[in-house]
Amino acid sequence: PIIYAITPTYKRPVQKAELTRLSYAFRLVPNFHWIIVEDSEKPTKLVTNLLRTSMLNYTHLIAPTPASWKRKLREPKWKKPRGVSQRNTALKWLRLNRNKPTDRGVVYFADDDNTYSLQLFTEMRSIRKVGVWPVGLVGGLMVERPIISASSGKVIGWNSHWRPERKFPIDMAGFAINLQFLISKPQAEFSFNVERGFQETTLLSQLVGLEELEPRADNCTKVYVWHTRTEEPNLNDEKALKKLGQRSDENIEV
Ligand code: UGA
Ligand code: MN
Repeated sequence: PIIYAITPTYKRPVQKAELTRLSYAFRLVPNFHWIIVEDSEKPTKLVTNLLRTSMLNYTHLIAPTPASWKRKLREPKWKKPRGVSQRNTALKWLRLNRNKPTDRGVVYFADDDNTYSLQLFTEMRSIRKVGVWPVGLVGGLMVERPIISASSGKVIGWNSHWRPERKFPIDMAGFAINLQFLISKPQAEFSFNVERGFQETTLLSQLVGLEELEPRADNCTKVYVWHTRTEEPNLNDEKALKKLGQRSDENIEV
């Protein structure tokens, strides 16, 4: 099976650095297809060129977040869900373009700021419906993970502390979906109109029950992905320059 990694991305000072790092990790993954979805009105030069030189199989899509769901200046990040339009656009693309019975794949939501180990992709390749595993550095914990029954080998709960009442208290990085299984559920998608932190539960509830989850990473005892977040760079002097009508990156893509 081919791994289809869906990555929403948006313009910001660290975007090229994030995507460069990600593309080098993905180069080491065999049978890999990157679906990168820009949160913009049209494809940007930066992303277009990065993909062209990436040596990866890829599909470049765009899906602007509707204005009413865009984060306002100085509004805290957690107020609005992120990646919704982009991931739904990628799901639509897969349903239209990878719907043949011979298309074998696994679909994974790979945000552009996380850290991925190669082992993660090995683990997810055998998923028949939905596979799950621990995610490091998320939900206020060192590791958030499914709890597995020693007798049945199935998921019987979670160790999550943040909104543990969610049906699937798991980060976007903690699961992947078999492509044909996903195609068999043509309505399943993300939604803006759900509570903060409920994106994962929204999608997964439309796909499976708890008992159908397939634990990976040694019965969910190993961490192969980290919910890292990149610090915003200090650009105070850049702002000062701008006031003088100058910039440090004139004709230089950073
Ligand atoms: C957490 C989860 O890890 C996300 O998968 C989930 O979408 C998010 O919460 C949520 O609840 O909406 P967090 O680290 O806070 O994620 O989110 P980001 O990494 O900032 O954003 C997730 C993805 O959406 C990233 O790939 C980012 O590039 C993209 N994004 C973010 C956009 O495309 N547009 C934006 O305006 C912001
Ligand atoms: Mn993130």
